[in-house]
Amino acid sequence: MSCLQSWPEPIVRVQSLSESGIKSIPERYIKPLLHRPSLKTDNFDDDFKDNPDHPRINIPVIDLQDMFSSNKALRDETLSHISDACREWGFFQVVNHGVNHELMRSAREVWRQFFKLPVEVKQEYANSPTTYEGYGSRLGVQKGAKLDWSDYFFLHYMPQSLRNQSKWPALPSSCRELVAEYGEQVVKLCGELMKMLSVNLGLGEDQLQDAFGGENIGACLRVNFYPKCPQPDLTLGLSSHSDPGGLTLLLPDENVAGLQVRRSGNNWVTVKPIPNAFIVNIGDQIQVLSNAIYKSVEHRVIVNSEQERVSLALFYNPKSDLLIQPIKELVTKNRPALYPPMTFDEYRVFIRTRGPCGKAQVDSLKSST
Ligand code: OGA
Ligand code: NI
Repeated sequence: MSCLQSWPEPIVRVQSLSESGIKSIPERYIKPLLHRPSLKTDNFDDDFKDNPDHPRINIPVIDLQDMFSSNKALRDETLSHISDACREWGFFQVVNHGVNHELMRSAREVWRQFFKLPVEVKQEYANSPTTYEGYGSRLGVQKGAKLDWSDYFFLHYMPQSLRNQSKWPALPSSCRELVAEYGEQVVKLCGELMKMLSVNLGLGEDQLQDAFGGENIGACLRVNFYPKCPQPDLTLGLSSHSDPGGLTLLLPDENVAGLQVRRSGNNWVTVKPIPNAFIVNIGDQIQVLSNAIYKSVEHRVIVNSEQERVSLALFYNPKSDLLIQPIKELVTKNRPALYPPMTFDEYRVFIRTRGPCGKAQVDSLKSST
């Protein structure tokens, strides 16, 4: 993997560009016309509130409260809402999920503070494409590629053998402790969601988790920082992609929208974040394991000139050296296996080399039968 050893061009921090006060953005951030956001169709703009031609759409919101009830009918009803959301959207928000709200707020704020530190401090964590761990400003190593308007911090939480707290920010001083606590609670919630998805797929409660490697799953955190952008209509904070891993739990900024989910064609729904909710989405590995009963969904992030935005994406992934392929109960004569076996280690080289490219990778795997 020699191509992944170093960045092809000097790294420019988007935050530094933004703070330099430029009025027009450099060429390398200007997206081709077809990929630019159409900011004026923002679907939850208040102007559209009561206009039947522009119904206010949002991804489904699911209250997990009833999943913890002893009443089976209530649990089944929630499971059925989740099932609909997985099939129709691949994206939903969850509330009453059991993760401490104060912890969610503190985790987001500590990262906001991290990005406010002087560039020299953050620079100590500068990452390389071999592992992506640390402070980064691009995904993909193709020379001359168009870049996204964001910086990020990427770290491994699980497995324990990859968790190296000395690579996590030492400042703000509560950062490491908060990340550890946040990781623990969110990973636990992912485990619960995995059971719900497994049952909804008609499998045993633990079957999906077992296919991920049981206890040995991977979990990584990517904290995204989207600085203010003087020309938000020309670029994206994060280009369209599906998440390569299993399940993603996103803690969005409570004040600033930005995440868009592709509905059909070039229709994008801007997600309206609900207070204290997580945004859950299906990644490519669950598409493969479920033999495409559940599909990962393309999403992207738009930026704006008024406010910066912070989001925390926790990626819950299969053990990285396990072969991932459609679960045998989901392969039938009428529905043969759509994907060949591949490890997640092999799979993620694609996005790490080419950067975000819609659903190009998982679609290209599809057997041609
Ligand atoms: C991601 C992602 C969305 C956001 O990190 O993969 O899609 O709103 N983030 O930051
Ligand atoms: Ni994503």
